[in-house]
Amino acid sequence: MSLELGPALDALRRGEAIGLPTETVYGLAADASRPEAVRRIFALKGRPADHPLIVHVAGAGAIDDWALDVPPAARALAAAFWPGPLTLILRKRPSVPPEVTGGQDTVGLRCPDHPVALALLRAFGGGLAAPSANRFGHVSPTRAAHVRAEFGDAVPVVLEGGECAVGIESTIVDLSGATPRILRPGMLGRERIEAIIGPVQAGVAGDSPRASGTLDAHYAPRTPLLLLPRTALADEATQQQVLGKAVQVLALGQLPEGAPGLALPATPAGYAHELYAALRELDGRAANLLLAERPPETDDWLAIHDRLRRSAAGAGLDAEPT
Ligand code: TXA
Ligand code: MG
Repeated sequence: MSLELGPALDALRRGEAIGLPTETVYGLAADASRPEAVRRIFALKGRPADHPLIVHVAGAGAIDDWALDVPPAARALAAAFWPGPLTLILRKRPSVPPEVTGGQDTVGLRCPDHPVALALLRAFGGGLAAPSANRFGHVSPTRAAHVRAEFGDAVPVVLEGGECAVGIESTIVDLSGATPRILRPGMLGRERIEAIIGPVQAGVAGDSPRASGTLDAHYAPRTPLLLLPRTALADEATQQQVLGKAVQVLALGQLPEGAPGLALPATPAGYAHELYAALRELDGRAANLLLAERPPETDDWLAIHDRLRRSAAGAGLDAEPT
């Protein structure tokens, strides 16, 4: 594969932010060692400055450039799942700019499993701070075109990396405390993590580091979104239409007879791959209401439930919170 990395590397070295494909979602990436470059990301996203960013690295060999007191469990997880959709929260080195970590004493590290991201990271040589490339609170991008739609000319360099294979954000595991804890579920599930390091806690504890993906209203379309069981979907769609509301349905496997909308694959991996593109597509159809079918309540759907719940909580709110 021949990759045109020159313009992206030039932009990064000038302290600018670029659109970066990863296997989870597209990131808005800048040089993690330069505070002014990192501040540019926050300005572009409209994100509060106390929300920490993930530092993307070329491999496990870079862990000690950013983190201190790295527990064996962190190295074991990196060995098992990097490159891949797993972010490790570790105690940070003093040299990591506070702009990256939101002033916390921990840093999030991830090695993305995407050929373009890996090639760029290797050529760049340092770490790239990159949140998802969307305006704060809005739906994450899984295509280069989504990034262009979010930022336009404000982010002139967006590397083309095709559709993100995973489609929702990485699993975040906090290894900075006494007990490992999953702060954000992802498609790399708890079982696979526990198979490597033993029991982990899940959910955010009172003293956990902050993770913005854990805010209630997140990943949200602009149209109000309601989550419903399959059995209620068709009736609700009909009732809303009778009330004169334009509805769009997001179904599993197949749309209910006569309902307008989209059907996504009825497998967790297939559904995750399509979810954010589907939310963007439905959001563009000028409906008054999105009705999403509730997926099965099994562990393999956990991360998808998490994103749907937050989408429903934030939907219809102004996409730019204060
Ligand atoms: O898959 C992903 O993780 C994507 C791609 C681009 O890598 N990135 C992503 O970034 O989702 P963002 O900023 O949208 O979400 C990163 C999450 C946030 O919830 C943030 O609070 C959390 O990681 N995070 C980052 N550093 C942290 C830290 N030191 N402690 C706790 N949470 C942290
Ligand atoms: Mg995000």
